[in-house]
Amino acid sequence: MAKKLHKLKIAGSPVFIGQTALEELKHNLGAAFANKETLFVLADENTIENCFPILVEQVPQLSSAYKIVVQPGEENKTLQTCERIWNELAVAGGNRRSLLINLGGGMITDLGGFAASVFHRGMEYVNVPTSLMAMIDASLGGKTGVDLYSLKNQIGLFSPPRGVYVYPGFLTTLPHRQLLSGYAEMMKHALIADSSSWNKLRKIPMAVISNWEDLIVESVQIKADIVNKDPEELGVRRKLNFGHTMGHAFETYSLRNDENPLTHGEAIAMGMICEAYISYRTIGLSHEQRDEIVKQILLNFNHYKIPTEAIDELVEITNYDKKNEKGRLMLTLLKGIGNSIEGQKCETALVREALFRFTDFGRLAD
Ligand SMILES: NC(=O)c1ccc[n+]([C@@H]2O[C@H](COP(=O)([O-])OP(=O)(O)OC[C@H]3O[C@@H](n4cnc5c(N)ncnc54)[C@H](O)[C@@H]3O)[C@@H](O)[C@H]2O)c1
Repeated sequence: MAKKLHKLKIAGSPVFIGQTALEELKHNLGAAFANKETLFVLADENTIENCFPILVEQVPQLSSAYKIVVQPGEENKTLQTCERIWNELAVAGGNRRSLLINLGGGMITDLGGFAASVFHRGMEYVNVPTSLMAMIDASLGGKTGVDLYSLKNQIGLFSPPRGVYVYPGFLTTLPHRQLLSGYAEMMKHALIADSSSWNKLRKIPMAVISNWEDLIVESVQIKADIVNKDPEELGVRRKLNFGHTMGHAFETYSLRNDENPLTHGEAIAMGMICEAYISYRTIGLSHEQRDEIVKQILLNFNHYKIPTEAIDELVEITNYDKKNEKGRLMLTLLKGIGNSIEGQKCETALVREALFRFTDFGRLAD
């Protein structure tokens, strides 16, 4: 049977998903990108080891590409790492006629997209995502950036890649905890826009999923439908932020305080629990659906235990959320599963209440 290549468009970027996605990249390097003078590959220490050999096997032109390798982990998604990348690009003669190929998870696609977009006022880049998180979310839609003092994505710009090549085969070496992290965003896509996708996810335990390709296509389609209506996040694209205001607070708190910090997806999963609670308290999410969401998340993710003393720090972190308006938190909330509303103002007192209840799930059910 012929291998199917799924083709979509997000914010003007072509996206190729399937077993032949890297063949498409190979083809494009000889066609649309044939005029590029230098090819650079940005990877982290894990993706250079696990994914670069597969990439080169399928895209032999990249065997002579200049490799820039950075340390893995969110703590390296910083301006300091960018500076290193810019230095390497400069020393190796990078310029606007070069192409950067970001090979990695969301940390690499966010970082590399940003580094390329401001180097020489804009060098083109493509994404080759290697984690589930990057395949269904981070590499798509043109949001690039880095963290500032562990506050998430404070520096960045909208700058779409010239193409995204999603080869699900990379998932075979992705650690289970990282696969789960991406699964959180897959759940989020279903929750905000597609109840049938949510029911599908509920029916298949994540541990037994073998065919990721179809689920990836479905999840990317949800993101594409939203982003294409509002590429610069002036309105409906904010739906994609469900779980993220409180999720980013958990992520920042964990980066500051934990030896083994939460993954992005684990933090978002906890954020979705809190924001489902706020949805129930404010815009009419039923308690049955709230409980269904909490149950489904806890089936896959451990409850992140925080002491009640941590609530002040978490609330303080939400004050830096980029989506705040006039000092007020703006959340995307759920009216029901598959039905979200963006731009909902939320008082700090309610965030505090959600966090207090989050510290003990017994209190969530009231
Ligand atoms: N720009 C956006 O729209 C957007 C959306 C969602 C998330 N994000 C960002 O994405 C980042 C999280 O992405 P992530 O979860 O992919 O994290 P990540 O890039 O840090 O990858 C997680 C770990 O998996 C390793 N890895 C990746 N692919 C691998 C593979 N195939 N085999 C073996 N190891 C592999 C990495 O080296 C890393 O250690 C966060 O910074 C988040 O803010 C951005």
